[in-house]
Amino acid sequence: MEHPEKELNREAKNLINQIAVVFRSAQFHSPSNVAVLSAAEKFISAINPFIESEGMIEIEVVGEFFHINETRVRYSVEFLLNFDYLMKEFKDRGLGTVRFKGIISPVDVQRLIRAFIGCLKADDRFDAMSELMQDSRNIDIERLRHVTEEGDSDIRKVVKKTYFNAVSFSKGIISKIKSGEKISMKRSKRVVESMVDMLLEEEQLLMGMTAIKDYDDYTYHHSVNVSILAIALGHKLALGKKAVTELGLVALFHDLGKMNVPPDVLNKPSSFTEQEWAIVKKHPFWGAKAALKLKGLDNTSIKAAVVAFEHHLNYNLKGYPVARFTKELDFYSRIVTICDQYDAMTSARVYSRTPLRPDKALSVMVDRSGNMLDPVLLKVFINMVGVYPIGTLVFLKSREMGLVHEANPLYGNRPRVLVIVNSQGKKVKGYVLDLSEKDQSGNFVRSIYKTLDPNKYNINLAEYLL
Ligand SMILES: [Fe+2]
Ligand SMILES: [Fe+2]
Repeated sequence: MEHPEKELNREAKNLINQIAVVFRSAQFHSPSNVAVLSAAEKFISAINPFIESEGMIEIEVVGEFFHINETRVRYSVEFLLNFDYLMKEFKDRGLGTVRFKGIISPVDVQRLIRAFIGCLKADDRFDAMSELMQDSRNIDIERLRHVTEEGDSDIRKVVKKTYFNAVSFSKGIISKIKSGEKISMKRSKRVVESMVDMLLEEEQLLMGMTAIKDYDDYTYHHSVNVSILAIALGHKLALGKKAVTELGLVALFHDLGKMNVPPDVLNKPSSFTEQEWAIVKKHPFWGAKAALKLKGLDNTSIKAAVVAFEHHLNYNLKGYPVARFTKELDFYSRIVTICDQYDAMTSARVYSRTPLRPDKALSVMVDRSGNMLDPVLLKVFINMVGVYPIGTLVFLKSREMGLVHEANPLYGNRPRVLVIVNSQGKKVKGYVLDLSEKDQSGNFVRSIYKTLDPNKYNINLAEYLL
């Protein structure tokens, strides 16, 4: 038998998925269409036993997640599209909570569907929706609560602090190891835990921090960026908090072996000579050795050693170092490889000296899918960062220029964009546009025309994202 908590989580996910199916089919067909009716029927048979045992079912949007009766529903790859779809539809309507208060009938669901669809033409969609649901006894709804502007800047500060705290921590680790001090795994875990917590709350902001690439001390920022990306990917893959924290930790340590590479080689502004490459290529081996020397050898430090050793080996095992005994790349290594390549390619200071635009880096990575990179994990990664990742400079068909500010998991090519140059070519203080916004006749209001190179336009990402 399945663990009861696991079982509950599966049912919760199923419920979210089922309600998404109902709304989705209702958007394409009339509410009395067979497809809609059968979806509604399935939903009813899924939710009623739940209502019976719990007394009430409350589905609430909290940040980027659904909560059912105050428990966060895990994201699952299987239902990824439907989850993202439903999240977007809730937000589009300013809908925060749907409460099922008693055993529901097909009539209840019909009313909910009609309100859900019928409110779309109204200015205040939530108001319209609640009006349409006035007669509903078993279902009620509540408006989505928004974080105020002021709170917003406070959150930014906390995110920034968490990020920079992790960077200075990684810096500290290296100097401690170099001076022969032992590194405490416990303390490292706490630092990563604070990033995991932050990511659950403020995924987009924390991911935004990784998009700023012109920091000094790139090596340390790189470790933290890879850790954040790995945490986010692990989270998308529905790994539990313990596993995500462990993954974040091994990702943070993946380049530990770089400390043995002489700084003049590591920071060399031009390409490496053959001898220099030979030295750099030893860092996975040195990293594994260093990981095993961490204080309190445990499972996590062994995993850190494995990942440090394997992170340039690639999915097809044809990278470096030559590994005679490895049959298959470790799961964590496959994740870290993706995050590492992405961050390295989009940064100026690692190996390739010219940074790639995020969308270009992704297309290089797509070419590596199935050979250097795990194809399934890469798909989830791209879905996560979006076709135009945060920080991409874009030129819109409306002739406005802006930076991608927030990914849209449902429409990868329709992120939220912070406009910095208006259609008259004037620099503006920045206003945010949602490219998934449609006009009355159902056409998208704005679209991306092309991506641009921020270096060419002298745009400092940090200025806008911090
Ligand atoms: Fe590396
Ligand atoms: Fe790296």
